[in-house]
Amino acid sequence: MKIQNNFLQVIGTCVALMLIWLTFNEDNPNQGVTVPAINPGMTYVTHVFSKVKVAAPFWQKHLCDLRNVSLEATEQKQIPLHISMNDAAIKPGEKNIFLLETSCDPRPTYRAWCAVESWAAQNPKGYVYYVMTAPYLQDLTGIVTALLAAYDNMKITPMNLTQLFQLTPLDKFFSTLKWAKSTGWPTIQLSDILRVALVWHYGGYYSDTDIICIKDVTPLHNVVGLQQPHELNNAHFHAQKGHPFIYKIMLGMLQHYNPRAWGSLGPTLFTRVMKEACGAHILDSKDGLKFQKCFNMTIMPQRIFSPVFWSANQKLVDEGGWEVLEKDFDASYTIHFYSQLIKVKPVRAGGRSVYDVAAKKYCPVTYKFATAHSHFF
Ligand SMILES: *[C@@H]1O[C@H](CO)[C@@H](O)[C@H](O)[C@H]1NC(C)=O
Ligand SMILES: *[C@@H]1O[C@H](CO)[C@@H](O)[C@H](O)[C@H]1NC(C)=O
Ligand SMILES: *[C@@H]1O[C@H](CO)[C@@H](O)[C@H](O)[C@H]1NC(C)=O
Repeated sequence: MKIQNNFLQVIGTCVALMLIWLTFNEDNPNQGVTVPAINPGMTYVTHVFSKVKVAAPFWQKHLCDLRNVSLEATEQKQIPLHISMNDAAIKPGEKNIFLLETSCDPRPTYRAWCAVESWAAQNPKGYVYYVMTAPYLQDLTGIVTALLAAYDNMKITPMNLTQLFQLTPLDKFFSTLKWAKSTGWPTIQLSDILRVALVWHYGGYYSDTDIICIKDVTPLHNVVGLQQPHELNNAHFHAQKGHPFIYKIMLGMLQHYNPRAWGSLGPTLFTRVMKEACGAHILDSKDGLKFQKCFNMTIMPQRIFSPVFWSANQKLVDEGGWEVLEKDFDASYTIHFYSQLIKVKPVRAGGRSVYDVAAKKYCPVTYKFATAHSHFF
């Protein structure tokens, strides 16, 4: 009886929201990307209406403690992200696209939202999942609502990580918090293991949140990119569900993890596994468009995913840089901005740096929010 009442209540709320929304839209036929008055996007977040309180899982407690984020939504404009058994209802498929927030951050940066939006915008046939570890999202500006309303192929996804990792060889590594103990980089390591677990279990693409997608990538299958000659990057890759290369990566993680070395589960490991399988020569692509294959993975030359070399990434935020570099992006599907290196430098809106122009073009909703009250982002 009680369940039925709750159910009716939820249906009632949905119908009411729908009507308000329709009315609102009718009054504003040309509203473009402005923020809707209410929150239709809420319905994309699974279990928003759930009243069932479940204790935060151990991994979430650990992450949120590190950041001093409370485990419960208490203020207004917080969208709760409840973890449940069947969250997200992600289907296995080649067109899944995963981006991650692994530091219990309820307020991802505009640059992170830009990445997420760019994937949704350039890949209308893809399904973009932004997997969150925070217990709620703080939507003070309304950007979350606006993005979810603008892209119906984009979802915010809380996730039962225990359940996911149980389906992989990384189960124990995850559940014993090995990735978080005696190390300075728990969130990076979680991100490294979570991306491979997701792609292994569901199949699809993974992308870091300092990448802007500039082209439909869905024709590319089973790919990984070089970030410089002789070195692969794990910042963006695609693999079919259950791909043997990803399996090998997971085994490599168990074997080669070093809590005291930065990124021991990242590019170094991808590079090592590939070299062990096919020999070092497999990675010495000069920057020509030479596509090597190993493990049924195609190794993409640098310019496909990371057209500007990381040590030159200053060029990506220099004013007027777009005009200088635009031609270099002809063959590229994504631009990697290496946020670790450029986040200290704000970009001026209208300055026509590569970041400025790319954001305006490829993540228009986020760009509008980011530049609404500030000349820099
Ligand atoms: C953590 O948050 C609490 C409550 O918001 C606050 O009182 C405390 O000072 C914070 N601690 C740190 C280390 O930031
Ligand atoms: C997450 O999954 C684990 C393992 O399947 C299960 O024991 C736990 O109850 C789940 N947590 C939630 C909140 O559903
Ligand atoms: C190898 O990869 C291609 C796509 O790149 C895919 O169509 C094919 O099924 C894969 N083969 C095997 C044996 O996994």
